[in-house]
Amino acid sequence: MEYVLETVNLTKKYKDKNAVDNLNIHIKKGEIYGFLGENGAGKTTTIRMIMGLIKPTQGSIEMFGENISSKKNQYLERIGSIIEFPGFYPNLTAKENLEIHRRLIGIQGKKCIDEALEMSGMKDTKNKLVKEFSLGMKQRLGVARALLHHPEILVLDEPTNGLDPVGIKEMRELILDLSSKKNITVLISSHNLSEIQQMATTIGIIHKGKLVEEIDFETLQNKNRHYIKIKVSDDKKAAMLLEEKLCIFDYRVSEKNILQVYEKLSDSPKINRLLVENHVDVGEIILMKDTLEDYFIKATGGEGIA
Ligand SMILES: Nc1ncnc2c1ncn2[C@@H]1O[C@H](COP(=O)(O)OP(=O)(O)O)[C@@H](O)[C@H]1O
Ligand SMILES: [Mg+2]
Repeated sequence: MEYVLETVNLTKKYKDKNAVDNLNIHIKKGEIYGFLGENGAGKTTTIRMIMGLIKPTQGSIEMFGENISSKKNQYLERIGSIIEFPGFYPNLTAKENLEIHRRLIGIQGKKCIDEALEMSGMKDTKNKLVKEFSLGMKQRLGVARALLHHPEILVLDEPTNGLDPVGIKEMRELILDLSSKKNITVLISSHNLSEIQQMATTIGIIHKGKLVEEIDFETLQNKNRHYIKIKVSDDKKAAMLLEEKLCIFDYRVSEKNILQVYEKLSDSPKINRLLVENHVDVGEIILMKDTLEDYFIKATGGEGIA
């Protein structure tokens, strides 16, 4: 598998503590990679290393199949980012702020400014002073600035922090749009599971500097299934009855005498009757939701993520 961005045993040590600890993340072309972790997990430190703002203590970063340490400037042209809150000149307009940035980084021609404003949905507010902007608008202007040089990868460090629900939704729509229409690969960090879940095609969970899971969308969907939990006196006999009498095959024995049935969810009265009539005691039969949240709580050792 060819990745546009991957880290190889990436480590950053501060004093005697690894803020990022042997991290191996893998980002495919065109995907939205959700980098999920609670506060202090090591997300910003990782992103700072990717953007070349701080040096790894150990390990490396590969972009487009090459180790980037020798070619920093070349690869920085292909990546755009917002790290924490983007700063702007409050007394200048959105457009003027972008113009200053364009000159600063040396992009030829002004066409890129209108394009970036258009892409980030800021076209109608381009002549407004930044001091009149909401936080959500500032974040979108931050995205516009990150897009000025037409990067292939966009790195967003907690872009929805502090935004209200409307701002969060707009940011999500913008990211989905950039991904689907412009085919930009996105790395987005967050401490909010449900937010990431609504847009990511892969989720990497970082906990205390370590990657605890990296899961693709399909696996994620499967983790989020509903099921009937049945506590019985004899799991083997119960399983046999389910298969033979009700043609239920999508089930598993999660622990001794506990069955999880993933299909025919409205059939629990029927299942109950069948088991009892065949002398299998039913201690409990309930509809459960095997949520992603439960899964993350397990993955992070019971501490969970907000
Ligand atoms: N410059 C620094 N000096 C010392 N410790 C740091 C520094 N930057 C971050 N850390 C520590 O590294 C850990 C990870 O921080 P950070 O990457 O900012 O986490 P996140 O972005 O996931 O909230 C935290 O424990 C933080 O206190
Ligand atoms: Mg951070």
